[in-house]
Amino acid sequence: MEEKIKEALSSFDEEIKQVTDEQSLESLRIKFLGRKGLFAELFEEFKALPKEEKPKYGQFLNRTKSDCQKRYDELVKSFEKRKKKSKDEFDVSLPGRRNPVGTKHILTQTLDEIKSIFVKLGFSVHQGPELESDHYNFEMLNFPPDHPARDMQDTFFVTKDFVLRTHTSPVQIRLMESKKPPLRAIMPGKVYRNEAISAKSYCLFHQVEGLYVDENVTFAELKSTLVSFIKQFYGEDVKYRFRSSFFPFTEPSAEVDIWWQPEGKEGRWLEILGCGMVDPNVLENVGIDSEKFTGYAFGMGVERIAMLKYGIDDIRLFFDNDRRFLIQF
Ligand code: PHE
Repeated sequence: MEEKIKEALSSFDEEIKQVTDEQSLESLRIKFLGRKGLFAELFEEFKALPKEEKPKYGQFLNRTKSDCQKRYDELVKSFEKRKKKSKDEFDVSLPGRRNPVGTKHILTQTLDEIKSIFVKLGFSVHQGPELESDHYNFEMLNFPPDHPARDMQDTFFVTKDFVLRTHTSPVQIRLMESKKPPLRAIMPGKVYRNEAISAKSYCLFHQVEGLYVDENVTFAELKSTLVSFIKQFYGEDVKYRFRSSFFPFTEPSAEVDIWWQPEGKEGRWLEILGCGMVDPNVLENVGIDSEKFTGYAFGMGVERIAMLKYGIDDIRLFFDNDRRFLIQF
């Protein structure tokens, strides 16, 4: 009997060393400590011993078994600890969860592109208020009170003297009042018009104003700057034309059209900007000597420019915030 107990112990010693995972730990338990395990068998044998031999082996068998049980219990605990620790640890090898990435609105992208072209041509960027006085929006730009020219733009009046600016041209005035020539700047921003909303017009849109004032600025320079912009923006093959026009604050004035050829439809000219030589009256209004200085100005509609470039046929799409539209750009 004694031999058998010693053998059981030494094989337990051997096998507990081989335990590497929960499965082999469980096999160890079944083999030695289970209901039909080795120790259970030894206890059966012990029961069958003659009475006088029992005291000799009883204690030894009990001690050996409880010793093995203790070592097994410790191993279970250490496995549990290890498992908990690995749960708390951050697994750096796991693939990351991707967040959907937004993009810039197509108008912002268009504005950025327009700005970067003019910045390369030597223009700085300025801004002015959207709530504008009648004084800056009209008067200083040579729109006399009650002059029919004011009817060109359907104005949102906030009070008798304040309007939501109908164009970015008042920023020209603010700039010329605050700085002396030479001046070369673009002025992007929102403008508002009280027009019937349709695929072609909206109550709100964006313009980029341009102004260059110096000695001997000519219409030829205006033309070459705008042509350079148009070709950089639309590509060398773009079809454009300058058409004479009228604005109270420029003389002479022109508009630029781009040829628009939708697939399978008839092509037509679409206006993208107004421009001209700054009217001497406007220069005098801001205290610039119109004998010494001349200047040119232009104002372009950003939505129109983007619609032509990307083939967008309804201006309202820019303002609807429909994801199906936005994710296309
Ligand atoms: N402000 C004019 C408009 O909104 C555009 C323009 C700007 C024309 C500058 C000439 C010079 O229609």
